[in-house]
Parts: sequence; structure tokens; C-alpha cells
Amino acid sequence: MYALSDNFGREYRYLRLSLTEACNMACHYCLPHGFPEWYRHKARLGLNDISTLLEGFRLLGFCKVRLTGGEPTIHPHCLDTVGIAKDLGYSQIAMTSNGLMIGDLEPWMKKGLTSLNLSCDSIDPEVFWNITGSKDLQKVLSLVDRAISLGLPVKINTVLMRSRNGHPAQIDEMIHWALSRPLTLRFIELMDTGLNKSFASEERVQGCEVLDTIKKMGLSPDSALSHKLADREGETAGPSTDYGFAGYPGKIGFINPLSCNFCDRCNRLRVTAKGRLKLCLFGDHDLDLDLSSPDQVAADVSRMIGLKGQRHQLERGNTGNVQTFRTIGG
Ligand code: 5AD
Repeated sequence: MYALSDNFGREYRYLRLSLTEACNMACHYCLPHGFPEWYRHKARLGLNDISTLLEGFRLLGFCKVRLTGGEPTIHPHCLDTVGIAKDLGYSQIAMTSNGLMIGDLEPWMKKGLTSLNLSCDSIDPEVFWNITGSKDLQKVLSLVDRAISLGLPVKINTVLMRSRNGHPAQIDEMIHWALSRPLTLRFIELMDTGLNKSFASEERVQGCEVLDTIKKMGLSPDSALSHKLADREGETAGPSTDYGFAGYPGKIGFINPLSCNFCDRCNRLRVTAKGRLKLCLFGDHDLDLDLSSPDQVAADVSRMIGLKGQRHQLERGNTGNVQTFRTIGG
């Protein structure tokens, strides 16, 4: 089957589409110094542009789409977007959300949602509130259990900050909660962005430290139950290395963009809520797409893929033009 490929032989079938820059949370790692002035204007994609983009990427052989934000469910056509993706033949339709506005999960599954990633940085209400500014932790935790009972694959994204939720006792609490459920809890290394720079380097907890904590808890990963990159979802796999533990339904994963670069396996492209192509999360610029037709989108992307670099320079402190993940959803 045709696959879009770049100058370094990497193939692309996975689109991350940011529907809106708006978010109903204010997570500390995203905006450690509050809202900047420019953030008042929050872009969002119109429904026609969403359809055109999804169709254009399908023409290029893309089969997985993840809806991101901001918070994608704030977009008035988020649920419709899932249906459009399904009608266009995407086989994996995923969403990354904080869960507060999802409501009943069944309509989402009926429309075609195939998996859900929920952001949850702590299961302690006080700590959760401290990080996110939200008192609705219970809503998120109930949604996790509801997804499990409906058989919707669910992953939890947790970003650790040393002084807020990164103490070994807090990690222990998250791990025990996660391992007792059929889900994957992924610890994502805090990444630098334009707005959080010194904060990120001071607060980051590396994946290997968490793995040490897990081992000190007396848990040892079972190699038969563990998955390295790309083991499970083939060419649309995420960058997580997941560990299973004998006797537990849950898995613990690590996304270590700083301590363990995975650019050589990059398999995704991003489109921002302004409808611009982002070849690399930490790239220097976004590229204008002509959204007049799906063919035009496909032609633009096929041409622009040649501009994609071999790897980002995040380890050297170069965050490109990403000011906060609030505008691009990671
Ligand atoms: N570093 C790492 N992960 C981040 N996220 C948001 N900002 C950062 C950052 N600076 C994660 C959130 C959410 C997902 C969209 O991205 O936890 O789950």
C-alpha cells in the first residue's frame, strides 16, 4: 500500500489534528507563568476545513487520526469529526482529552472512536487541583472506569513535576491505581516549550528514575508482557515503551523524548488549529496548506514532507516555535 515517506525513509500514516487551541484547564507544566497576552485569540478549525484535511490525508494513505487541542472536546464539531473520520475510512480514530466535557462515552464509540488517551497527573484531588486548576478529578477517574467497562482502550498521560507530583510516594500511588485496571499509564517526560523553559529543566523527572522507583516498589517488568516501540500498533505506534507486570492487568509506559530520542521512528504529522502543517513538534515553523480541496492538501503535504528534518534539537534547548502544548496538543 502507498505510504507517504520522507527523505530519511520514514513512512507516515498517522495524523494528529488539533481542533482548537482553547482548553478548559490551565495545567502548570503547560502554562507555568499563566496566560500570555497572545493567547487571548484561540484559533479553531472550521468543519469544512476539518473534512478537507481528513480527506486529503486519507488520499495520502493515512489510516490513523488523533484529535488533539487545546482540549478537542471544546470544539463544537468534535463528535462530528469522529464520524467524518470513520466515514472516510480511518481505521484508528483516537483522541487525547482531559475528559471533563466528554460526557457519555457511548455516542463517541458509536460515531467511531477507537481509543482514548486521558490526561491525569495525579489521583490525589488536592494535587490534581494544584496542577490543573480543576476540582473534577472524580469525573476523570469515573470516565476511565466507564471506558474500561465499555471496552474502549484507554491510556493515561501523566507528566511528572518533581515538586508537585514527582515524589516516589506519589508515583507509587499512581502505579498501584493503574496496575489494578486494564489500561496503560504512560509517564511523559516534561518537555521544554517556549513558555516553560527553565521550569521544565528544573522540574523534569526522567523516565529511568520512575522505572527505578517501580523496581524499588518490588515490581519487576515481565518481558513477555512488555512492548517496545512499534510492537503492537505497527506503523502507527506511539513512542511509548510499555511494561507489563505478572498478575496485574495494567501496564506502565514511558515516553522519554529527552532522555531517549525517538525521532528515527517518527511516523506522524501534525496540523494545527490554524490549519497549518507542523512537520515536527519542535520544528521552527508551520507551513501554510491550501485547504481549497482534499487533492490540494494531499499535493501540498507530499511536497512539504521533503522539508522535514532528521530530528529535533530539544536536548540542546531548541524548542522550535512551540510556545506551549496548549496550541498543538503534544
Ligand atoms: N511536556 C510533556 N507533556 C506535556 N503535555 C502538555 N504539555 C506537556 C509538556 N510540556 C501533555 C499533557 C497531555 C498531552 C496533550 O500532552 O499531559 O496529556
